[in-house]
Amino acid sequence: MKPDKKYTPEEIAPLASLEQWDEDLLERYPEEGKPAKAKEEFRNYDSPQRDTVREFYRLNHTYQTYDFVLEKEKEFLKFNKKEMPVWNAVEYLNTLIDDSDPDTDLDQLQHLMQTSEAIRADGHPDWFVLTGFMHDMGKVLCLFGEPQWAVVGDTFPVGCKFSDKVVYPEFFALNPDATDERYNTKYGVYSHGCGLKNVHMSWGHDEYLYQMMKDYLPEPALYMIRYHSFYAQHRENAYDHLMDEHDRKMFDWVRKFNPYDLYSKSPKPPVVKELKPYYEDLMAKYLPGTLKL
Ligand SMILES: [Fe+2]
Ligand SMILES: [Fe+2]
Repeated sequence: MKPDKKYTPEEIAPLASLEQWDEDLLERYPEEGKPAKAKEEFRNYDSPQRDTVREFYRLNHTYQTYDFVLEKEKEFLKFNKKEMPVWNAVEYLNTLIDDSDPDTDLDQLQHLMQTSEAIRADGHPDWFVLTGFMHDMGKVLCLFGEPQWAVVGDTFPVGCKFSDKVVYPEFFALNPDATDERYNTKYGVYSHGCGLKNVHMSWGHDEYLYQMMKDYLPEPALYMIRYHSFYAQHRENAYDHLMDEHDRKMFDWVRKFNPYDLYSKSPKPPVVKELKPYYEDLMAKYLPGTLKL
């Protein structure tokens, strides 16, 4: 049985575009020293955008159960959907045009390149630049028909009590795990300081790409990829009790990465054609010739 069959089209795509999640993040975590743009307007609870983001999280928090995550891991970590050269995979991701207003918003490739170019401009090592360029590749899950709330959105551990520091925590009341005593205690199926490597995160583009890249990039890069949407930890420290010493060290990298992801949008889009050879060289240095999706 294809598990997604049970969702209606409205449940699969509550957002007009995946970018609405990023815009909501910018509202929640505005760049220091810069006023959040159109804050007044956005805080308006009648705003249709606010409503769709709320609905997105209602679905995300309702359906991301421990069992759901295990099922998705089993399904997608076989990487048997597609195989293609890395650059083609980037172009494939870029066919994900879900935006109602494609003229004003950046496409996926431009977001990736702006992130990586900002990292490069700050003189960071080349693997960090490549990480910026690849970090959202996991969004190809959307092209496989996956619901938006199983691809993007803040991630959080499943199998233990949901923190009220996760955005829209009230919707966790709708999640069956919240009343399942195996999963609704502070530690649930985990133990104190067990380390995030033993923790299942809500399913989405982070974990999927981490699993795709884990043999190829240095460990700080893998942490950045795997936990870049884990705002409840890297911004709110809500799950310290599951982290080990190594996680704590590595989260410095996750925090270093986050501003490039959130704040690197520039009105001048990068010229893909000019930069492509540089990125192809980087890919050839670190990644296999073809990627299995
Ligand atoms: Fe992302
Ligand atoms: Fe991103």
